[in-house]
Amino acid sequence: MRQSKIDGYRARSAYKLIEIDEKFKIFKGGLTIIDIGAAPGSWSQYVSKVVKNGKIISVDLKEMEIIPNTIQIKGDFTLNEIQQQIKDKLNGYADVVMSDMAVNTTGIKNIDSIQTGELCKDSMNFSKEIIKKQGFFISKIFMGGSFNEIIELGKKIFKDVKVFKPKSSRKDSKESFVICKNLR
Ligand SMILES: C[S@@+](CC[C@H](N)C(=O)[O-])C[C@H]1O[C@@H](n2cnc3c(N)ncnc32)[C@H](O)[C@@H]1O
Repeated sequence: MRQSKIDGYRARSAYKLIEIDEKFKIFKGGLTIIDIGAAPGSWSQYVSKVVKNGKIISVDLKEMEIIPNTIQIKGDFTLNEIQQQIKDKLNGYADVVMSDMAVNTTGIKNIDSIQTGELCKDSMNFSKEIIKKQGFFISKIFMGGSFNEIIELGKKIFKDVKVFKPKSSRKDSKESFVICKNLR
């Protein structure tokens, strides 16, 4: 049986976030977290377990099954009305904004990288408005295409910008993660 099934996670993606957390020590009780591109929900499941007495807002184009202690928003994150809904539910500032958003891949690596890069930049710009000074921003990226642009934008917004590829991310995939901290 797959480990994710045994552990009760809806997707193997959970292990990538767990590795990110082990390395960067991000999640603890009381945090306010926005999970963008959350379906089927394994990242939200993980934070729902480790973040007691916090607030978790999970956003996706797709419907998700209920996850305890989370507020779900269904819609396209790139739309102003969805970003406004997130702000309304947040009603303050977030400690962590994390995005695992990815477009349906075309198989053409450069196109996939650029399109997913646009989603990453959108969520980075959004996080600038709603993240606490010492907040964390985590996002999936694909190496190639717009990688340099993303790192440049990250460095404009945050003091610390790191790139990390978890062991649980397939070696043959261009996927990696950008981890930013401390707003400028
Ligand atoms: C790799 S999956 C996320 C897996 C998730 N982190 C988990 O652990 O279960 C990527 C998700 O991004 C979502 N997505 C892509 N574009 C989006 C957009 N513009 N707005 C909201 N969600 C989006 C997709 O619907 C898909 O569910």
